[in-house]
This record gives sequence, structure tokens and C-alpha cells, in this order.
Amino acid sequence: EKGTYPHFMLKEIDEQPFVMRKIIQEYQDDNDDIKLDKDIRKAMKKCDRVYIIAAGTSYHAGLIGKEFLEKIAEVPTEVHVASEFSYNFPLLSENPLFVFISQSGETADLRSVLVETKKLGHPALTITNVPGSTLSREANYTMHLHAGPEIAVASTKAYTAQMAVLAILAVDTARAKGIELDFDPMQELGIVSNAMEALCDQKEVFDQIARDYLSTTRNCFFIGRGSDYYVGLEGALKLKEISYIQAEGFAGGELKHGTIALIEDGTPVIALATQEHVNGSIRSNVQEVVTRGANDCIISLEGLDREGDAFVIPKVHRLFTPLVSVLPLQLISYYAALHRDCDVDKPRNLAKSVTVE
Ligand code: M6R
Repeated sequence: EKGTYPHFMLKEIDEQPFVMRKIIQEYQDDNDDIKLDKDIRKAMKKCDRVYIIAAGTSYHAGLIGKEFLEKIAEVPTEVHVASEFSYNFPLLSENPLFVFISQSGETADLRSVLVETKKLGHPALTITNVPGSTLSREANYTMHLHAGPEIAVASTKAYTAQMAVLAILAVDTARAKGIELDFDPMQELGIVSNAMEALCDQKEVFDQIARDYLSTTRNCFFIGRGSDYYVGLEGALKLKEISYIQAEGFAGGELKHGTIALIEDGTPVIALATQEHVNGSIRSNVQEVVTRGANDCIISLEGLDREGDAFVIPKVHRLFTPLVSVLPLQLISYYAALHRDCDVDKPRNLAKSVTVE
């Protein structure tokens, strides 16, 4: 039920801090260790490469998941769009582990990959919000998102839950491999939860950004580098699916290779600048588009912010920043759709779960 909320999407955005706490609760045991099926731990330790298979928003979570698995657990990881997988079937490593990320657990494109990889005898882990779902039943192992039912077609809380669960999986694997880490994932997720709450309390800022930049525009670009680029892809998907604005996410460095030709007077460009090592380069990219007339909107991180930034997000652990930086993009998309009189929860041509290939 929506309760007092006008839309499920807004309710689900607001639920994200609680989902983080629920995940901490569900994945932590009494000794403050990670609570995880021993067989998953074994499978992660045994595999020499993870193949993440997903679609849409879950694919975007997978891109961040690759960062976690490689940077935290030192597990080589590939991320594949499910519907493309069989056309570009990669040369598999000796001991692959397939990780299917799906909110619904019913996405047909993923299922057909699972059928194929099972035939080859490879193990599969499904990360889903619906433990009894098809992908969960057919895989060897399941990790539950604990996000509660997600009703709005535009996925929000499942995306942040997917990233949180992937981070926990990565940390657990690192520990099992004896890799020393200088942070506690549960503590960091607690900090993420507080930061999310702070953002949810400032909705009027995002409402205003949506009004100023997106009420009448035909298109909008999201730019970022590294993980900001991945979050930008998610921001663009969110915006296009519910507001019907043509939105695209680009790597900051790719602009000059073509996309910058599309920048005209007043074109909105939303830039994420949340990482120290690319702060200078992404800001130069913003300058390049501003010189061509773009209407820039910079979302930065506490400590890296500069005068004129549209919004500054609170600082959290470096690797966990995407869990927070996506919230402004979710809220901006929500208000843009609202101001353009779109059906926020049930956008045209889309279904919540895509059960046909
Ligand atoms: O249920 P799934 O996570 O497998 O769904 C995958 C995509 O269909 C889904 O994320 C879709 O892109 C959303 N509508 C995005 O908001």
C-alpha cells in the first residue's frame, strides 16, 4: 500500500535507508560477522571468475558489483547484458560462477542464460528480491535483497539493495580468502543509511532542479567517470523511462569522441563529481559542455565540492558512494515526471517484470 504517498516510486525511494538497515540486520550474525550460506562462500572461494548476468537497472548494479568484487575481493568479474550474452558467449574461465541479478527473479532474458549455463554444468547464484522466484529456484544458491515489494516500474530501492548485497558478498569473499580490509561493511552501510535519510529530507532541492532543468527539455545528458559513469547510466535510464525525456549517460572522456556535437544552448547536462581522482577531469568535461551552451548541474561530494555545484552529497566510504549518489538522480527523475504529467508508477510501454525474451 502507498499509505500517504502519492506514488509507490516516492515511497520506495524513501524506504532506502530502512532497506539498508534491514540488510545489515539480515546479513550480520551475533558475533558481528557476515551471515552467509556456507556453500555460497565456498563457491565464491572456488571460482576463478564471476560472470554477472542482468538487465536494465540490475545490470547497472552489476557494473558497481564488478568494482566491489575486483577491488575488495580480487575476483576477476565480467558483467553482461542478459539478452546479448548468447550472441557474445565469452571464452569461459576454468571455474566460472554465474551471478544472476534480478529484482523480480522472473526476467526471461536471464532465465535463458541460466538454462544454457546450467546445461554446461556451471554453478549459479541468484541475487533477487523474490526468493521463491524462477531464477531463485533454478539457481544453486540465492541471496535475498530484503528490499520489500517493489511496485513502481522504475526500480529504486532494489538497485541500492543489490549494490549493498554485492558489497557484502565481496567483503565475505575477501575475508574467506584472507584479504585484510580496513573497513567494516555493516558500519559503512549504516553510514550510507544515514546519508540516504539526509537526502530524502531535502526533496525540495531536487524538485527545484527538476523544474529548472527538465520541465520542457527534449533531452538530457548524464556524465561521470568511473563509478560515477555507471551511476549516470542508471540516472539516464530512470529519467527516460518515467519522464520520456531522451536521456543518455556518457563517460566524461567520451564526450569529445562524438556526443558533444549534440550539445546546444540550454541542453541539460547532469554531472556526477564524487571521486577525488577524477574531480579535475570531470569538471573540465563540464567546462567543455558549458562553453557549447549546456545548462550544467553538478552533483558533488562533501569535500570535493566547488562553488556553484547544484547539490553536495554527504561523504560515505569511497566504494559505497554510488549507493548514495543515485538518490538525487532518482528524485530528480521522479519530479521531472511529475512536472511533465507522466504516469510515474506505470510508464507507457513498460512492464514491471519482463517475462518474454
Ligand atoms: O526484475 P529485474 O531486475 O530482472 O528487471 C530488470 C529490468 O527489467 C529492470 O531493472 C528495468 O530496467 C526497470 N524498469 C528499471 O527501472
